[in-house]
Amino acid sequence: MTILTRFVTGAVAVLALSLPAAATEYRIAVGDGAGGTQEALGKAFIAALEEESGGEMTGKLFLNGQLGDEQDTVTAAATGTLDFSILAINNITPFSPSVGTLTLPYVILSQDDAEQLTQGEIGQQMIEQTIEDAGVRIIGWAYSGFRVLTNSKRPVSTVDDLQGLVIRVPKNEIMIETYKSWGVNPTPMAWGETFAALQQKVVDGQDNPYMTVYAMKFDEVQKYITNLHYIFSIEPLIISEALFESLSEEEQQQVLAAGEAATKASSEFLRAEESKIKEELVSRGMEITDPANNEQEFIDLATTAVWPKFYDQIGGKEVLDNVLTSLGREPA
Ligand code: MLT
Repeated sequence: MTILTRFVTGAVAVLALSLPAAATEYRIAVGDGAGGTQEALGKAFIAALEEESGGEMTGKLFLNGQLGDEQDTVTAAATGTLDFSILAINNITPFSPSVGTLTLPYVILSQDDAEQLTQGEIGQQMIEQTIEDAGVRIIGWAYSGFRVLTNSKRPVSTVDDLQGLVIRVPKNEIMIETYKSWGVNPTPMAWGETFAALQQKVVDGQDNPYMTVYAMKFDEVQKYITNLHYIFSIEPLIISEALFESLSEEEQQQVLAAGEAATKASSEFLRAEESKIKEELVSRGMEITDPANNEQEFIDLATTAVWPKFYDQIGGKEVLDNVLTSLGREPA
């Protein structure tokens, strides 16, 4: 080795030691646009992942379904062609019916209920079942608020007002049956097609939380909001189980800790932002209506008709009873 090559080799070695190792960048699919709870969860996760791993792991968000429609991202993560995805729980249910309990109408009645269920023993059981059924691991939760009904035609406060409206729902049996219990035959449609369908008036309305209505700019194509409370939207952050299994034990712990930190940030984000977003949507011209008689007609029809239909899928009536009693309510 000449003096020059020895010098250059030494200099490169010193330089390499002083630079951080190149970070592994994971791709994170996000169903919604900017400004919603999914993006907030994703940003918090990336920041926590970088911190936990000392800069060795990071992530990049692909908003607005750029990496595929929400349900398709579950399949992609299961087969290992996608690393992470943030999506609504109702778009995981077709792959793991056990999480359907979180989508049954009027089971989760507050953000506290949602947090208690997802962060407690019941959430842990669902995580394990989802790994088994769908090949993806839930490592964090975004809390997005109640799915309010929006439409372009008229204020809706009763079940009767709903009749004749064409409503888009996710391809989710529980949600389809809920609308049927209200006398409406809804239109199941992928999330990625929903904005265009509202814009082109293929459908009159849809339901999603205030945060999502804002992130998707639905105020541009929808006028009326009804404050339904039938589903409190929970949006998990999932990792491909194949990817998770390929990580070292230390990396797995870092990923899990980052997911936990992001869940906490998501909870605070919703509590701080939802009322501001609601005001913003009103200032953009949306009109908000409350359901008549404290929503009793909607509640009675949906719980009576829908709950029993899904006992088998969710693992038995006792699964729902366990959820209800853990929330301090009467069994079904
Ligand atoms: C849906 O309606 O398909 C989802 O709730 C959309 C979302 O993830 O925000």
